[in-house]
Amino acid sequence: MEFNSRFGDIAENYLFAEVANRTAKYAAAHPGREILKLGIGDVTLPLAPAVISALHSAVEEMAHSETFKGYGPYEGYSFLRESIKNYYAEMGVTLSESEIFVSDGAKSDLGNILDIFSTDNTVLVPDPVYPVYVDTNVMAGRKIIFADATEENGFLPMPDPKVRADIIYICSPNNPTGAAYSVSALKEWVDYANRTGAVILYDAAYESFVSEEGLARSVFEVEGARTCAIEFCSFSKTAGFTGTRCGYTVIPSELKRGGLSANKMWFRRQSTKFNGVPYIVQRGAAAVFTPEGRRQTGENLSVYKRNAALISSAMDGSGVMYTGGKNSPYIWFKCPGGLNSWKFFDLLLERAQVVGTPGAGFGKNGENFFRLTAFGSEEDTKKAVERISDLFRQTV
Ligand code: MLT
Repeated sequence: MEFNSRFGDIAENYLFAEVANRTAKYAAAHPGREILKLGIGDVTLPLAPAVISALHSAVEEMAHSETFKGYGPYEGYSFLRESIKNYYAEMGVTLSESEIFVSDGAKSDLGNILDIFSTDNTVLVPDPVYPVYVDTNVMAGRKIIFADATEENGFLPMPDPKVRADIIYICSPNNPTGAAYSVSALKEWVDYANRTGAVILYDAAYESFVSEEGLARSVFEVEGARTCAIEFCSFSKTAGFTGTRCGYTVIPSELKRGGLSANKMWFRRQSTKFNGVPYIVQRGAAAVFTPEGRRQTGENLSVYKRNAALISSAMDGSGVMYTGGKNSPYIWFKCPGGLNSWKFFDLLLERAQVVGTPGAGFGKNGENFFRLTAFGSEEDTKKAVERISDLFRQTV
């Protein structure tokens, strides 16, 4: 018997587990100090009242034999898939219900989707990017190549005709840089994928933060994407479901390679390994799309957007180079004083008791950068901004 030795090729801890470990160590050594956490992108506002009310009603249904639910459909209840379908229609994207698969979150599906791809495929991953794409492919033993996302290209790499890849990851608005592709820029990736036969895995977890005209919220806004793309989305960042767990994956019926349908393979995979998201949670998720749910979750998003603007204004005031904060809940900046990411993490924690995420954890191009999240409470964000501004005054 042998374990998967490829685990030796990834960092011992998942990035956010490492951040949590180091923070816990600091807290244990400095009891009584108020630590402000702007590291992991975890929401802090409670679920919208419309969602809570739908959750309560669904719990009540489970208490009576006439309305009790056991196993649900593997791909999710129709009431939720229909709401998602209508949501896409507002963006001008036509989907059929059978192309929507409800899941327990984008992170799970981004890892699990690899089951339908050959391990011989070469994977193209932007650098820096959400570490799940790299870690899951290293675990599976795929060859990974990188597309550099740098200050020079505005953190939005474009396809290089000389590079050949089978699976292409795109995260837009990007985690961690906050950079977002326009529909026209994304079209170049879609054309490239259709030309080469590659498949784009499009992570749209932050689509609800897009505020500028012309930027894509869904890859399916791009003509031609139905033959080359799979989209992953989540209620986590849109509606505060990080702890409630619900997301969805869209696989168009036209996405076929070698006579095999990605949609059918995914259904086969999910029905074998997954028994669906709890009915109660799906009822809560469906309430996000009601007029009340839309208004209330929109109010919560406004709070996070205000936090992002506040953090951005501190960066403006200090002259530090930064991106994000506009179409994204993340602010991505260059560590002052030329410090490397983990050194700055320690400095920020020790001198300001603020936790952020070191850019190096997102790839080699993230070295010397740092990420702050706007998902903290308003109060914590205000305090953190004051402390960070003070620290910048001393170090920039
Ligand atoms: C992040 O902080 O990058 C995200 O919260 C991670 C995630 O969504 O899994």
